[in-house]
Amino acid sequence: MNKVTVNASRKYEVLIGAGLLGNIGNKLSNLITGMKVMLVSDDSVYALYGDKVENALTESGYSVSQFIIPHGEQSKNLSNYSLLVEKMFEAKLTRNDVVIALGGGVVGDLAGFAAATYQRGTGFVVVPTSLLAAVDSSVGGKTAVDLEHGKNQVGAFYQPMLVLCDTDTLKTLPYEEYINGCAEVIKYSMITDEGLFDLIDNTPIKDNYEKIITKCVSIKRDFVEEDEFDLGKRMMLNFGHTFGHAIEACSHYTIPHGKAVAIGMASITKAAVVHGYCLDETQEKLTGLIEKYDLPTELTFKAQELLDAALSDKKNGHGLMRIIVPKSIGKCTIKEIYKDDCIDWLVHGGAR
Ligand code: NAD
Ligand code: GLY
Repeated sequence: MNKVTVNASRKYEVLIGAGLLGNIGNKLSNLITGMKVMLVSDDSVYALYGDKVENALTESGYSVSQFIIPHGEQSKNLSNYSLLVEKMFEAKLTRNDVVIALGGGVVGDLAGFAAATYQRGTGFVVVPTSLLAAVDSSVGGKTAVDLEHGKNQVGAFYQPMLVLCDTDTLKTLPYEEYINGCAEVIKYSMITDEGLFDLIDNTPIKDNYEKIITKCVSIKRDFVEEDEFDLGKRMMLNFGHTFGHAIEACSHYTIPHGKAVAIGMASITKAAVVHGYCLDETQEKLTGLIEKYDLPTELTFKAQELLDAALSDKKNGHGLMRIIVPKSIGKCTIKEIYKDDCIDWLVHGGAR
């Protein structure tokens, strides 16, 4: 088992290893004084791991209530948020009790926002079961739900008390979800770690989960500790995401996050070559790695459509946008551009 400590507004541990689910009850007793748990999960993950987690909790004396949502992004909404906090109230949860998110990023973001706001903040533990949640969403304290026409528009920064990543759970992850998470791993390697890039280029990520998740979480930890509230350096974690979010929106969310980020990384790198930030060789290596993980690289939308979608993102106000531009493998820089220049970047990135 590996351990990464995150020293943010709350200090917590991220535990990564096989067979950790069964220990969750023991781990909780060091964190909270209450004995009530609201277990939040989706139907697919709960069917696979719900019993195991509930048994471990009840054996340690906790009383467990459940809130199970249908799997998928459409469940990350205000109405489920409202149902969840009502259920927490009915179950008489107090600030000494805990919400446990068992699942991917959808469950984590919804449960985290409920934990952040219920009685102005109750206990929160994340048990990520998707690769994306393990390397990204479970760490760093961003919680949110979507509005009908805008992703993550209502949320809060709220750090968990513990992240328990049992790598055994990743064995049941569907292939499409695995490659979605791989896109985020590729992102970490591009922004800071050429060694990680070479590692995942030579060996499939799934063969090295413990090591790779630990590396990614450590990279994210460093950004979060320096810029918890996303005002500066943390934006580096958005490599591939500015165009990626726009691609997701233009596809009406039929292109999943990981694939959109893969296209976003490939296209910004293509444009970065034209603008003289990096060499052809960097773009070829990145495109090769993205394709190795069966992820797409081609932009198929119109530049203007993508720009309109990017500008409606909460991070891109005042006509100025921040894009993360690669300089070489393992090195990126943050650049501010005017929205008119964005069209140019998008077209050089392959947009129509
Ligand atoms: P998800 O939660 O929808 O999970 C993907 C699918 O995999 C679901 O159908 C789920 O049921 C299934 N699944 C998860 N674990 C499984 C397992 N072990 N075995 C079998 N099936 C399993 O999506 P995701 O990709 O995990 O997360 C995407 C969400 O995360 C988005 O809403 C995104 O906005 C959010 N996100 C948040 C942050 C953050 O910092 N808070 C960062 C990145 C993404
Ligand atoms: N996923 C980007 C961040 O947490 O800042």
